[in-house]
This record gives sequence, structure tokens and C-alpha cells, in this order.
Amino acid sequence: MEETIFQQLGEDGFERLIAAFYRRVKTDDLIGPMYPDDDWEGSEKRLRDFLVGRFGGPQRYIEERGHPRLRMRHAPFSIGEAERDRWLELMSASLDEAEIADAPKAVLLEFFSATAGFMRNQ
Ligand code: HEM
Repeated sequence: MEETIFQQLGEDGFERLIAAFYRRVKTDDLIGPMYPDDDWEGSEKRLRDFLVGRFGGPQRYIEERGHPRLRMRHAPFSIGEAERDRWLELMSASLDEAEIADAPKAVLLEFFSATAGFMRNQ
């Protein structure tokens, strides 16, 4: 059977990816201010746990947060084309920084781009 993305990246790969992403989000002029400024560790953990579970690893996100209902959870934020593009730009730079291999990177980019489009509410 083919290895899952989680088996390819390990906890460590997701950790590097999401740490790199939030380092960028924190100082981003457009989407940075949308995130709660006193819970960066929590934000990092939620996205990391969600992705680990989604790509074949332990289901920590669902155990702790329940069904993701991502569109509903993003409803409080105004997400248009510019915000979607910025999120994807920061994630794409983070995939490079974390040195995620080409094959899993392509799968993740595809998923991110579909999901980010789905999050648009403006
Ligand atoms: C399209 C642009 C996006 C913007 C501007 C955005 C913004 C945000 C903000 C401000 C939060 C709240 C901070 C937090 O509690 O973590 C959040 C939460 C979250 N986002 Fe996004 N997001 C976007 C796309 C995505 C995508 C594509 C995914 C999945 C691949 C995603 C997954 C999550 C998850 C799992 C949470 C935590 C939800 C929870 O359990 O409360 N987001 N996002």
C-alpha cells in the first residue's frame, strides 16, 4: 500500500511546516490581524492537528475539537480573494522552507488551494 502523507512527513514535517506558516502569518499585514494575538501556540496546534489527522495521522483534532466544520469556523472572518491568495502564498513559501518533498508537496498544495477557495465568504 502507498504511504500516507503523514507517514512521509512525520509529526516532525508537519511541525516544521506549520511553525514556518505561523511565523509568516504573525507579521502579515493582511491576514495577521485576523488571528487572536494571545494564542499563537493554540492556533498552531489546531491547524497542525487538523492536517495530521486529515492526512493519515492521529485524530487529535477531532478528539479535541469535534467535527472540523471549517467553513462555519471561518465565518467570523472576512475572507475574500485577497485573503485566500495571501494564505496560499504564505503556505506555499512555508512548504519550501520546511523542505517538503515534491510528491507530498503537490498533494498538499492541491488540498490547500481547494480548501482555501471553499473558505471564501466574500
Ligand atoms: C483562505 C484563507 C484563510 C484564512 C484567512 C484563515 C484564517 C483563520 C483564522 C483567523 C482562524 C482562527 C485562529 C485559530 O483559532 O486558529 C483560523 C482557524 C483555522 N483554520 Fe483557517 N484560514 C484560511 C484558510 C484555511 C485553510 C485552507 C485551512 C485548512 C487547510 C484552514 C484551517 C483552519 C483550522 C483547522 C482552524 C482552527 C479551527 C478551530 O478548531 O477553531 N484555514 N483560520
